[in-house]
Amino acid sequence: MPRRKSQTVHRRLAQVEALQRMSEQIVRAADVDGVCQLAIDGVRSTIAPDRSAVLLLRDGAMRFVAWQGLSDGYRAAVEGHSPWSLEDPDPQPVVIPDALDEPSLAGLIDVVRNEGVRSLSFIPLVHEGRLLGKFMLYWDEVYAPSPDETRLAQAIASHVSVVVARHKHEADLQAARDRAVAATRAKGEFLATMSHEIRTPMNGIIGFASLLVEARLPGEHGEWVRTIYTSGQAMLRILNDILDFSKMEAGRFEMEIAPFDLERTLRDGISLLTPLAAAKEIDLHLDVLGLNRAIAQGDPARVRQVLHNLIGNAVKFTHRGTVTVRARIAEGTEGAEGGDRVRIEVVDTGIGIPADKIGSLFERFTQIGTSDARHYGGTGLGLAISRRLVELMGGEIGVTSESGQGSCFWFELPASRQAADVRHAA
Ligand SMILES: Nc1ncnc2c1ncn2[C@@H]1O[C@H](COP(=O)(O)OP(=O)(O)OP(=O)(O)O)[C@@H](O)[C@H]1O
Ligand SMILES: [Mg+2]
Repeated sequence: MPRRKSQTVHRRLAQVEALQRMSEQIVRAADVDGVCQLAIDGVRSTIAPDRSAVLLLRDGAMRFVAWQGLSDGYRAAVEGHSPWSLEDPDPQPVVIPDALDEPSLAGLIDVVRNEGVRSLSFIPLVHEGRLLGKFMLYWDEVYAPSPDETRLAQAIASHVSVVVARHKHEADLQAARDRAVAATRAKGEFLATMSHEIRTPMNGIIGFASLLVEARLPGEHGEWVRTIYTSGQAMLRILNDILDFSKMEAGRFEMEIAPFDLERTLRDGISLLTPLAAAKEIDLHLDVLGLNRAIAQGDPARVRQVLHNLIGNAVKFTHRGTVTVRARIAEGTEGAEGGDRVRIEVVDTGIGIPADKIGSLFERFTQIGTSDARHYGGTGLGLAISRRLVELMGGEIGVTSESGQGSCFWFELPASRQAADVRHAA
C-alpha cells in the first residue's frame, strides 16, 4: 500500500475508534451537560478544530452548554443567534469558510473578528425533525472543512441529539406526572373539604327530621318526613365514604391497630343489618369456628365498616336464600410461627358476579350493571374503601363468585395466638 494511503487509513481508523469510545460514553452519561462536554472532547480528538461549542434550545433560544476556547464576551454576544428558524423542518449544516466574506454574519462581524475566529461550521442537533440545538466548530484561519469532516461532526451531533431528546422526554414525563399528582391531590383535598363542610348542615337536617319522625305527624306528612330522614341518612353515608376515600388517597387516613374482639365486632356488624335482611326475608347468620385460639389485630371501628359494606352488599344483591358470615383461623396459618391470620367470609346466594367483571370490582366507582346504581342504589365506593381499609390493617381482601349462584367476599386480618381465657381481653 502506498505510504500516504496507509496513513489515511490509520487516521480514519483512529477516528472511528474515537467516535465509538465517545458514543459509548455518551450513552452512559448521566446528564445533558456531561453529554455536551463529551461531544466537545470527541470532536477535539477527531476533527480537531481550533474551538468548538454545543448550544441547546432552552426557553426558545440557543444557549451555550459546553464549549472550548471561547471567551465569556463572545458567548454572551452570539448566544441566541441561529442560521435556522426554530421551526425549520429540515435544518442542514451551514459551513462558512471565511466569516469576513459572509453577509449573514455582518451584524456580528466585530465580535467574531475580536475573538480571532475566521471559519465557522454550524451543525444542527435534530431529533425526529425537531431542532434541539447546534454543534459549532471554529477555525482561526480561513478553512473549508471537507465533506467527511462535516459528516463526522453530524454523526457526533446525532448521538448528542438522541440523548438530549431522551432526557427532555424524561423531564417532560416527570413534569406531567408531577402535574397529575398535584391535580389529584387538589381534587382529593377539594372532596375532603366539601364533604366535611356538607356534613355539618346534613347533621342538622337529619337531627331535626328525626325529631319530626318521632313526633309522628299524621298522614302523608309523616311519610314525607320519614323520606327526608332516610334520604338524609343515605346522603350522609355517601359523604362519609367520600371523606374517607379522599383521606386515604391523600395518605391522611388514621386508624388504631390493636388486638380486638372479632366475634363481638362480627355480632355488632350483623345486628345492624338484620332488619334489612328480615325485610327481604333473607336468612342472615353468623358461623364462627375456633376463633378463641387467635386474637385479631385491627381497628374494630374500621372492621365494622368493612363488614357493613360486605354484608350490606350481600343483602342488597341477594333476592332469596341466605347470607352467612363465617370466621375462622385462615387455612394454612394454624401452627405457623407468628404469622396467624383470621379469615372472615361473607357468603351469599345472590346474583353473583360475571367472571370478567371480578378484576375491576375493588376499584372506585365500579358497579357491574349500568343500571345497578338506579336499581340497587350506592355509589360504587364501598369495595374500594373496604380494600384500602383491610390493606391499611395489614390484611388482604378478595372474592370468589359465580354469576347467578352467589358470591363469597372474604378478608383476612393479622392475628396473634392467644390462650382461650384472654379471648375478650380487648
Ligand atoms: N355480594 C355481591 N353480589 C353481587 N354483586 C356484588 C356484590 N357485592 C358487590 N357487588 C357488585 O360490585 C359493585 C361494587 O360494590 P360496592 O360496594 O363497591 O359499591 P355499591 O354497593 O354499588 O355502592 P356503595 O357501597 O358505595 O353504596 C356493586 O355495585 C355490584 O355490582
Ligand atoms: Mg356497597
